[in-house]
Amino acid sequence: MNLVDLSTTSLAFVDRGDGVPVLLVHGFPLDHTMWDAQIEALAGSCRVIAPDLRGFGRSPLGNINVERGVSMEQYAEDLAELLEALAVVESIVLVGFSMGGYVAWQFMRKHPERVRALVQCDTRSAADSDDARAARIKIAESVANTGSGPVADAMLPKLLSPRTLESGAPVVARVRAMIERTGPAAIAAAQRGMAARPDVSELLPKISVPTLVLCGEQDAISPPREMQAIAEAIPNAEFLVIPGVGHMTTMENPQAVNDALVRFVEGVGRKS
Ligand code: MLT
Repeated sequence: MNLVDLSTTSLAFVDRGDGVPVLLVHGFPLDHTMWDAQIEALAGSCRVIAPDLRGFGRSPLGNINVERGVSMEQYAEDLAELLEALAVVESIVLVGFSMGGYVAWQFMRKHPERVRALVQCDTRSAADSDDARAARIKIAESVANTGSGPVADAMLPKLLSPRTLESGAPVVARVRAMIERTGPAAIAAAQRGMAARPDVSELLPKISVPTLVLCGEQDAISPPREMQAIAEAIPNAEFLVIPGVGHMTTMENPQAVNDALVRFVEGVGRKS
């Protein structure tokens, strides 16, 4: 892994392969390893850049206002700075997963010229309901005392399909370990940022780049009907449901996600 200093933090990232740059933005409270299978699959034909967002994985939280947390706009600016630091001048394929998707919307808003194509996996365009916002603030206030274990206990049944959970497959332990190694301060900061994130429905019809919207058939966090509505609101979007899996499509059925990404990136990689 590499580490680069940016204006208000440092970011750890994987940078592999050559060709069209593909930026993979992970979800909460996860890190770039949720993309391990996709990094392997894409690195043979493109340049894959997979950072740990600030506070996650090996990236420090950097200078933040603890009361406000980290906004989705801030994570997006970190990504823009990372691309600058890596001298990526070619337009990218931007791939967001869940919270990484919230970040991707903000990147699209601020830096549309840097994006040649967009993939949104298991994410939402709506803001939180009042109840969801209150639940996030409660976690932000308690996680310093409880640690990340209870966050993993509460999130696993929403992240993975019942079948994956019952199977006891290695993916269950991998997702739990990823959550448990995330520090309480990063969890609190991201929860506050997500609670404050705006609804982005008005952005969707303005997205003109080729877009792939995909989600798990049993995604309990960003359900297929909601993701289908996102795809229908984006003029040039394709919608794909991965059968039989929950929210963690990239890990529950890596092959299906790899196939979809490789095909999509090949299609958009021919244009510059
Ligand atoms: C994620 O997977 O990134 C989170 O579940 C998103 C969220 O909490 O809204």
